[in-house]
Amino acid sequence: MKFHVITMGCQMNVGDGDWLTRSLQTTGFTPAPEHEADLFILFTCSVREKPEQKVASELGRIADRHRDNPNACVAVGGCVAQQLGTSLWRRFPMVRLVFGTDGIAAAPRALARLAEEPGLRLSLLDFTESYPERDQSWPEDRLPPRAFVSIMQGCDNYCAYCIVPFVRGRQKSRGAAAVVEECRNLAERGVREVTLLGQNVNSYGLDASGDGTSFARLLDAVAAVPGIARIRFTTSHPKDLSDDVIERFGSLPQLCPALHLPVQSGSDRILRRMGRRYDTADYRRLVAKLRRARPDLALTTDLIVGFPGETEADFKETLDLVREVRFESGFSFMYGDRPGTASERLEPKIAPEAKAARLAELQTLLDAGLTASLAARVGTSAEILIEGPSRRDGAAGPSWRGRDPWGRIVNLPLPGHGDAAGTIVPARIVQAKKHSLIGEAEARDD
Ligand code: SAM
Ligand code: SF4
Ligand code: F3S
Repeated sequence: MKFHVITMGCQMNVGDGDWLTRSLQTTGFTPAPEHEADLFILFTCSVREKPEQKVASELGRIADRHRDNPNACVAVGGCVAQQLGTSLWRRFPMVRLVFGTDGIAAAPRALARLAEEPGLRLSLLDFTESYPERDQSWPEDRLPPRAFVSIMQGCDNYCAYCIVPFVRGRQKSRGAAAVVEECRNLAERGVREVTLLGQNVNSYGLDASGDGTSFARLLDAVAAVPGIARIRFTTSHPKDLSDDVIERFGSLPQLCPALHLPVQSGSDRILRRMGRRYDTADYRRLVAKLRRARPDLALTTDLIVGFPGETEADFKETLDLVREVRFESGFSFMYGDRPGTASERLEPKIAPEAKAARLAELQTLLDAGLTASLAARVGTSAEILIEGPSRRDGAAGPSWRGRDPWGRIVNLPLPGHGDAAGTIVPARIVQAKKHSLIGEAEARDD
C-alpha cells in the first residue's frame, strides 16, 4: 500500500513521522506523493488554536480530493488525536486509525491489520508506564545527514498555558543504551548530526522510567559514537539546565554552540503566573554562565505575548530582556486559551488588538536581531554540514544547502561535487540574506 505523511507541529512530530515512515517501509508499505497514495497519515498539533483548526481543514481537503478512491483511508496521530480521540471517526468517516504519542509504537502493526480488514477501525490512545521502545529496523543503508532521536516522551511541568502535558502524558525517559544504539545505527548509515528530542531534555533520566543516566552523561555517550560530528538538543527548560550541561558546551567538541532556551516572558510577575519556576534574574545568570562556557553560543527562544494580566509595563520588560540577551532569533506567539489548562481560568484576558500590536513590536525587534547577527557573519569562516541541493542555483553553478555549527542555513556553490550531502565543507560567508547566508567553499589548510 502507498502512504503519504503530512506533519504539523513541533520537532517531536517530525521525529515521529520520520520513524513511522521508516518502520512502514520495512513492513512493505511504500511512501508516495499525495496524489498516488491510498493511506494518509496526519501528525497533528494542538498547542495553539490555529494548528488545531488546521487538522479539520486538512481532513476535509483529503476527503474532498480523494472522494473517488474507494481504498483511501486516513490515520491521525499526534496531539489532536490524543485530545479528540475516537470522536474524529464520527466527524471524518475516512479516519480508520487514531493513535497517541505512546500508541505510535504499535501503529505499524495496526496499519497492517487495517489493510487486511477493510471494515475495521482502531484506536491506540492509552498512555504507557514506561517509554514505549519502537521497532529499530532500517529500510535503507543510506540516510540524510541529519536525524532526530527521541530521548523521552511527555512533560510533567504543567506550565499554566500549555496543553502538552495533557496530550503527551507524564514524562518518561528512554534508556540511555537504546538512545546510543539508535545514534550508532544512524551514524553507520551516514548521519553526521543528531538532534536529541524531548519536551524538557534537561530533566532527562530524572523520572521513574529513567535508568539513572543524567542528560550531561547522555551527551557524553552520544558524543563517543563514531561518525557523529554534531549534536544538538531541544527543548530546554531554564529551571532544569544544570551546570554539568552548561560545562559540556565548553568541553564537548561535538556539541553545537546553539541553544534553544525558551524564556516566555521578561516579567517576573508573569513568569510566576505562568508557573515557570524561574525568574528573570535566574535566566540572566544562566545566559552569563553559558556565554562563559561558550562565548559564541547562539541563543534562541520562545516568547508569549498577551498572557492573562500582562500589562504594557510587563511587555516592556520582555522587550528589554530581548534587547539585553541578544537572541539569535526567537519564536513569538500570541497567548491563546487551551482547554483544560490553568490559565484558561485566569483573568483579565488581553484584548486581541493589544496582543496583535505587542506581537508585531516583538517580532520587529527579533527580526532586527536576526538581521544584525547574519550581517555580522559576512567575512567570517565556518564549517558547513551539507544537507542537500539548494533550491536556488548561484552564478557559479548548482548550489548546495547546509548549516553552520550555530544552526544558520548557508547556501553555497560546490563546483565539481557529485553528491556533497553529508560532507563538512569549510566556507567563507560572503553575503547575508533575510533568513540565511551565502558562502564560498574555502581550501582546507591541512
Ligand atoms: N517544552 C517546550 C518549552 O517548555 O519551551 C516547548 C513547549 S510548546 C510545544 C512550544 C511553545 O509554544 C512554547 O514554548 C510556548 O511559547 C508556546 N505556547 C504553548 N502554549 C501556548 C498557548 N496557550 N498560547 C500561546 N503560545 C503557547
Ligand atoms: Fe509545555 Fe511547559 Fe512542558 Fe514546555 S515545559 S511542554 S511549555 S508544560
Ligand atoms: Fe504541538 Fe504536540 Fe508538539 S501540541 S507543539 S505537536 S507536543
